[in-house]
Amino acid sequence: MEISDQLVDLAQKRAEGFALEGFVKGRGPADAKVMLVGEAPGETEVGNLIPFSGRAGKELMKFMAIAGLTREYVFITSAVRSRPYRYGEKIDRKTGEKIKRRYNRPPTQKEILAHAPVLDAEIQMIQPKIILAMGNVGLKRLIGKAYQVSEQHGKIYRGPVQHLAHLEDRSYSWTEEVYTVLATFHPASIFYNRQLLPLIEADWQLLRQQLEAR
Ligand code: URA
Repeated sequence: MEISDQLVDLAQKRAEGFALEGFVKGRGPADAKVMLVGEAPGETEVGNLIPFSGRAGKELMKFMAIAGLTREYVFITSAVRSRPYRYGEKIDRKTGEKIKRRYNRPPTQKEILAHAPVLDAEIQMIQPKIILAMGNVGLKRLIGKAYQVSEQHGKIYRGPVQHLAHLEDRSYSWTEEVYTVLATFHPASIFYNRQLLPLIEADWQLLRQQLEAR
């Protein structure tokens, strides 16, 4: 199940002028019970159009296994569906030449707002039993800026999520529907902080328990 090409066009128009490249639709079955919400795709994903298929994706697959899940059963998406980039310089080891290249960066609030109709539509389409926000970008997009993964992980949020009631709105409002939202650190966070590993594993155990209870 994936969003329409019209919605992709709309999101791309809304994001015109931003340093974003590619467009990776969220992926998963229409009857997915779980939706995973990350930050934004990276270089690998905009190349092959498969969410979480790069380095972070490898870690994600291991975490999903803790909850007894595979790609076939979950809907994987993120707050922004294009790769946010910045230019930087790298020295070519062989030639010593300076090469200008694109690096990943976190999405801005404006970019998240521009792509909001995509995540809104995916949530409407899938009606997941549980949404797992992976990282602060996804979590804040869903349940508001006051929340932090470091405080919210291990807890169960049950309530509305933020959406754009009208395309022209510049701020979010709350859905009438109520959702269950869990939080964990982004799978890439362990590349910078290995100590998060047991915390993340416990979060995926909690997801497993919650799924078994439903
Ligand atoms: N990080 C994300 O949030 N999404 C991807 O698809 C890859 C890395």
